[in-house]
Amino acid sequence: MFTCRAWFVALAAFGVLIVLPEASAQGSKPEASPGGRKPSDPAAVSRLLADIKARDRGQLAVSEEDGRFLRLMVASSGAKRALEVGGASGYSAIWIGMGLRSTGGRLVTLEYDPIRAKELEENVRKAGLSDIVQVVAGDAFAQIPRLQGNFDFVFLDAWKRDYKRFFELVYPRLDREGLFIAHNVVNKRSEMGDFLDVVQKHPSLWTTIVSPSGEGMSVSLKR
Ligand SMILES: C[S@@+](CC[C@H](N)C(=O)[O-])C[C@H]1O[C@@H](n2cnc3c(N)ncnc32)[C@H](O)[C@@H]1O
Repeated sequence: MFTCRAWFVALAAFGVLIVLPEASAQGSKPEASPGGRKPSDPAAVSRLLADIKARDRGQLAVSEEDGRFLRLMVASSGAKRALEVGGASGYSAIWIGMGLRSTGGRLVTLEYDPIRAKELEENVRKAGLSDIVQVVAGDAFAQIPRLQGNFDFVFLDAWKRDYKRFFELVYPRLDREGLFIAHNVVNKRSEMGDFLDVVQKHPSLWTTIVSPSGEGMSVSLKR
């Protein structure tokens, strides 16, 4: 039988990903979740996401379409141990957290800026995701070696010139069949040529580039 992950792998092998628009942040009613986790109120989460976007003067947050894509990747891959590098005020962490609610997984999100790290924690709480998303404040280069265990889903959205170094730090701790997704690989391609070279030529990765909203994400599956 083809699992969701097998379908993803098959599509990625041909460099094809189909992203369908969805109706709301979580659909019309709260989703059932494993382990008796409290579902979030979808309307409240949609309002919160819109509010984070409205306050995002530096335009740090991923686009809504990219957020939907991240949730879909988490849910379809069955990810359980997710890592985000560059959490800002929590927009992408909330989308990833909603995917993890359906898989029973957890996210550690790392944010360097102390003010943004506080907003991130507060927004995660408002989204009803504090049981799923752990915020770690500080420099991810220093914090990642302190985290326990491996990851099966990594989302990289820190400063673009650091991407190759972050990939090298995290790759040994990425599970086989784990996903490594990096943001802005289309609109900021010139700042991360070295990283793209590595993931696109790596013998143990299948990598494809998708661009739901023009910012672009590299999606790499560890073989
Ligand atoms: C583009 S924003 C992230 C946006 C976020 N993913 C979202 O969609 O809401 C990049 C963030 O990475 C953080 N950052 C950059 N370098 C970092 C590092 N070495 N460790 C932790 N955070 C870092 C910045 O402070 C900034 O808030």
